[in-house]
Amino acid sequence: MLDKMKFWNKDNQNGLSIDERLKEVVHFNIPNHIAIIMDGNGRWAKKRALPRVAGHHEGMKTVRKITKVANQLGIKQLTLYAFSTENWKRPKMEVEYLMKLPEEFLGTFLPELVEENVKVTMMGDEEAIPPHTKNAVYKAIEETKENDGLILNFALNYGSRAEILDGVRHVLKDVQNGILNEKELTEEVFSKYLMTKDFCDPDLLIRTSGEIRLSNFMLWQLAYTEFWFTDVLWPDFSEEHLVEAIEAFQGRSRRFGGLKSEE
Ligand code: FPP
Repeated sequence: MLDKMKFWNKDNQNGLSIDERLKEVVHFNIPNHIAIIMDGNGRWAKKRALPRVAGHHEGMKTVRKITKVANQLGIKQLTLYAFSTENWKRPKMEVEYLMKLPEEFLGTFLPELVEENVKVTMMGDEEAIPPHTKNAVYKAIEETKENDGLILNFALNYGSRAEILDGVRHVLKDVQNGILNEKELTEEVFSKYLMTKDFCDPDLLIRTSGEIRLSNFMLWQLAYTEFWFTDVLWPDFSEEHLVEAIEAFQGRSRRFGGLKSEE
């Protein structure tokens, strides 16, 4: 990989425009998988004296914008935390609104996603998701299944601890049934028991809105991920912010617990 930091002046981004920065960033190490905790919709709405759901609606538009630019940058997988297993605790009206958003998003943008070669996937406990929500996502999964561009993975009714426990239950069952030998249970094998079995681990995690926590998101998969936190609220998150996060990622030295060859 080219050493970007040798000539990159982070403070003024070398005076480049966003288009130039977009062109520049692709010459370096683009993360394969970006995971995003999209936070701050409620505060965005509150600042404007709007109902919280207006923030979620604006956040949906950001999803469209960021998907498009991620695809253009050649990112392979984008996982978005759209609804956590804890989000059911919110007022009924807000939950119902959040469960309508995938329909609205896909109702509006699915033809464009098909056109742009984006493949839609979903991870989470599907049982509790209302049929109208999951049917909209299933339709998108079906219509984009042959696409081989960006994978847009919605984490819907997702919780990482439940995912890991479920994986453990399946492992125990497979051991009992003689499908898996206990001695063969490596980290790599266990990864195949998780909802992300077809994904690589995220290279970069972004969380918006100034909160510095993981909120039960991809706890296993984020073991060696680079984290990037910003105070920007999700509805205000722009192409520039994504590029900024990727630039920061490109300036990091990933050692995965080892040493760099020159150290
Ligand atoms: C957290 O902000 C955000 C959510 C719980 C929902 C995220 C959903 C979207 C961004 C839209 C999803 C779009 C699609 C297409 C599925 P918050 O409400 O906790 O904000 P706050 O911390 O400021 O209150």
